[in-house]
Amino acid sequence: MKKKYFITTPIYYANGTWHLGTCYTSVVCDAIARFKKMDGYDTFFLTGTDEHGQKIEKSALKEGQTDVKAFIDDKVAILKDVWSLLNINYDKFIRTTDDYHKTAVQKIFTKLFNKGDIYKSEYEGHYCNPCEAFWTAGQLKDGKCPDCGRPTEIAKEESYFFRLSKYQKQLEDLFEENPDFLLPVSRRNEMLNNFLRPGLQDICVSRSSSKWGIEVTFDRAHIVYVWIDALTNYITALGYESSDDSLFKKYWPADLHMMGKEIVRFHALIWPALLMALDIPLPKKLFAHGWIYFGNEKMSKSLGNIIDPFILSEKYGVDAVRYYLLRDIVFGNDSNYTTSAFLTRRNADLCNGLGNLLSRTTAMIQKYFDGRCPEPLLKSDFDDELIQIANDLYDNVKTRMDNLEINDALAEIWKLINRANKYIDETTPWLLAKKPEDKPRLATVLYNLAESLRIAAVFLCPFLIETPKKILDCLSSSCPNSFKNVIKFGVLKPGCEIKVIDKLFYRIDISAEIAELNKEMSMQYENNNGTSEVEANPRTKDKDIINYNEFSKMDLRVGIIKSADAVKKSEKLLKLTVDVGGETRTIVSGIAKYYNPEDLIGKCVSLIVNLEPTRICGILSEGMLLCAQDSNSVVIISPEKPMAGGSIIS
Ligand code: MSP
Repeated sequence: MKKKYFITTPIYYANGTWHLGTCYTSVVCDAIARFKKMDGYDTFFLTGTDEHGQKIEKSALKEGQTDVKAFIDDKVAILKDVWSLLNINYDKFIRTTDDYHKTAVQKIFTKLFNKGDIYKSEYEGHYCNPCEAFWTAGQLKDGKCPDCGRPTEIAKEESYFFRLSKYQKQLEDLFEENPDFLLPVSRRNEMLNNFLRPGLQDICVSRSSSKWGIEVTFDRAHIVYVWIDALTNYITALGYESSDDSLFKKYWPADLHMMGKEIVRFHALIWPALLMALDIPLPKKLFAHGWIYFGNEKMSKSLGNIIDPFILSEKYGVDAVRYYLLRDIVFGNDSNYTTSAFLTRRNADLCNGLGNLLSRTTAMIQKYFDGRCPEPLLKSDFDDELIQIANDLYDNVKTRMDNLEINDALAEIWKLINRANKYIDETTPWLLAKKPEDKPRLATVLYNLAESLRIAAVFLCPFLIETPKKILDCLSSSCPNSFKNVIKFGVLKPGCEIKVIDKLFYRIDISAEIAELNKEMSMQYENNNGTSEVEANPRTKDKDIINYNEFSKMDLRVGIIKSADAVKKSEKLLKLTVDVGGETRTIVSGIAKYYNPEDLIGKCVSLIVNLEPTRICGILSEGMLLCAQDSNSVVIISPEKPMAGGSIIS
């Protein structure tokens, strides 16, 4: 029997304009789900929309729509268009206004009330509307919501409460005994340090001041708090508390709940506690990815700094968008969208790397073998490395996917593509073609190239949509449903037709394109920052010139942050311990205003390690962290992908 795999995205607020940031969670889940399906799992991929709560109601009113449901229906239709544009191949799309969901939520609420885990009391405190979150005065940061930094409202009403505090010990045990329950580890530390260790308080789970929600059946003046309504979607979508719970029996517990880092608290504390109260097994893993920024701010509808996936896809292809999201962003970390990074990836990897391999290989087979796949008649030891990389690809990509190193999984595939391109330069088929006696060797070289391309395209199937199809079609093959029987070298049948097609991706003149795009998307963020950066920083010519000798005295290294703590009596400083390859350094850095200490654990950074040690606030600082700075912010300079601590920067 097939093993099951149940993966979920959070359900999306149905008031949105969906942008590259929101698309990220779904594109990643889609790639994982497709990979698991091809890897033989009976996979179920759930997504949907979060349609209740004041935030949605207010958005409808803001757009002049008094019929909230009609407003949401329009938004959901747009979201479904985005998902279809990006080929998000979900198995179920739940809407929290669906009747089966509402009935199940009511039953769950009543069950918890009858059990004594929900009780009535009076709520008085702060409510953050955009986050739909309750806070005590002590939890506010500078009088504002600690999650989003926006002002809160005072809320005072008779409410129902969930006994979250009752599950304190069970949650502590969960985190203690199961260190991989919530990843990355920085999020786990955040839950432990900021919430579990200070002690959990019961949470308010109903509202009486709003009507847009699911009514509490035994007390109709109240509606269920939107986060309780939303979190339960993960089980109601499978039929929990409905007449048909076969999907629930088959797929629960979830194998992976994926989410952005701002909603971890709800998923990692409240959701497991609710499941404990309901005697339902817990999800196996939670993963919180980072944010996509655009111009120093989290990409978000409310700030207006958004990139429209429709415009990007229409201009450069859906696969370029999917590829950028999956390959360029180190999975788990924050990243900053820039059009030049997006286009550079597209040009370098898709157009040059993959596109050239396809066009060179197919054109040579066309020219030297009349478009028929040649037979590999003359093998050589020289081919072994290429064949080995192709044959190892399944294990390597699978390991990366199992570890949720999504960008590295793609990097593994590019190892084969890059090796194959190099193999062309090394074997010089155009020279082999000149001598008839070299024809068997030429046949072997071109077969090896076509077969490497086929294998690369098979592994690209979970990540990209049109591109692997086009490549496989050129090779008289098609996208397989399973990896079985198609991933070992030698599957391609000699004699099959090999087609030449138009370029996979046209090369783009990046600077001309950015100017054009800026106009179209009114990218005031990138423009503004560009201007202020130049003005805020000293002109480069004002700095002294140094010679190479002086530069080479600097010992620049990659470091991995092991711990980060605020420095007492200083608002600016953090004390970091950093692994620089078997050696730990203490570094005091003035980044406290820009980074939460928990977010830094495990981060790969750049350091100068032979700077004269100096005492700062009584702490001996043995080096300096390299950062970039403009008039708004300071950001740490990290290697483009994680490197071992101690790696030399040159
Ligand atoms: N409705 C809640 C989730 C309830 S789940 C029981 C919600 N919705 S959301 O529409 O705001 O977010 C949906 C997903 O988009 C989340 O995973 C969120 O982290 C992600 N992102 C929204 N903006 C983002 C970026 N700028 N960058 C990366 N992901 C971002 O939260």
